[in-house]
Amino acid sequence: MSRKSFEPRVGIVTGGGAGIGLEIARQLVERGSHVVVADIDGAAAEEAATTLGSASAATVDVSDPEAVRELVRATVAEHGRLDVMVNNAGVLFSGPFEETTDAHWEHALGVNVRGVVNGARAAYDQMLTQPDGGYILNTASLAGLMPAPWMTPYTTSKWAVVGFSRALRAEAAGRRITVTALCPGYTDTKLLDEVVDPSASVRPGDFRKTAKGFQGRLMTPRQVAEKAVEGLAAGKAVVVVGWFAQVMYRANRINPRTMDLGVRVEAAKQRRSARTRR
Ligand SMILES: NC(=O)c1ccc[n+]([C@@H]2O[C@H](COP(=O)([O-])OP(=O)(O)OC[C@H]3O[C@@H](n4cnc5c(N)ncnc54)[C@H](O)[C@@H]3O)[C@@H](O)[C@H]2O)c1
Repeated sequence: MSRKSFEPRVGIVTGGGAGIGLEIARQLVERGSHVVVADIDGAAAEEAATTLGSASAATVDVSDPEAVRELVRATVAEHGRLDVMVNNAGVLFSGPFEETTDAHWEHALGVNVRGVVNGARAAYDQMLTQPDGGYILNTASLAGLMPAPWMTPYTTSKWAVVGFSRALRAEAAGRRITVTALCPGYTDTKLLDEVVDPSASVRPGDFRKTAKGFQGRLMTPRQVAEKAVEGLAAGKAVVVVGWFAQVMYRANRINPRTMDLGVRVEAAKQRRSARTRR
């Protein structure tokens, strides 16, 4: 079967008010789409939509399934269809497992997992009614492709997004709906400075410092967005962005034992430096 051409007319990007989501929205607008920028930060969504041109804004908490269904309903009511659903909103956690709380787990799974599932369900129902289907892009992370320590709620949530995306992709095959998981390495966004409810062992700036220690130069959100939308248009299953993510992804597949050893050393290092900071 020949691949349909990627000519999106209507898209939604959750977490589109900033960072990677904003740049994905820009890529879609540049390809001729109207984009609904949906974010829990309504002011950021408004500002983003203004700068993008062919875009509008919506204030939505992706962990609320009814709010996300309403977002899709309202978009289709106004624009007649939905070609691309980008489930990108996410929150970051950092710290040792023993310091994670119920709130950390609820927030990570609520936004990073349920948020993606909520968006995919609402979009899927609509796309099934469209003769030319549609595209679903779910933002996971390199942390969804390797056993990233010291951030278990985040790692768990991102593995779930990769697994969900690949399973749904199999179901969607033949129904003209393409599902893609996006797995970027470290990217220069405010996420790196906004660890949610940091535990005792985490100080402001720690996460960004760790990220730069691994990757040296952080990617720009635009670099990630370009690869994401290229991968989406090409119908890829998983889009891994950045040299560090590529190396870690391959290492984990080719030699998981060495990867396990490496992350064990890293976890011990994190514990030691948290102790010396106290
Ligand atoms: N920055 C990185 O290094 C990196 C690496 C890999 C994956 N990611 C993933 O990329 C995605 C985008 O992150 P980013 O780096 O652009 O961060 P960001 O903080 O710049 O953007 C995240 C956006 O999501 C929004 N958001 C948060 N909770 C929400 C909710 N409940 N409902 C709706 N919107 C909500 C925020 O308001 C923000 O605008 C996330 O899923 C993140 O996990 C980021």
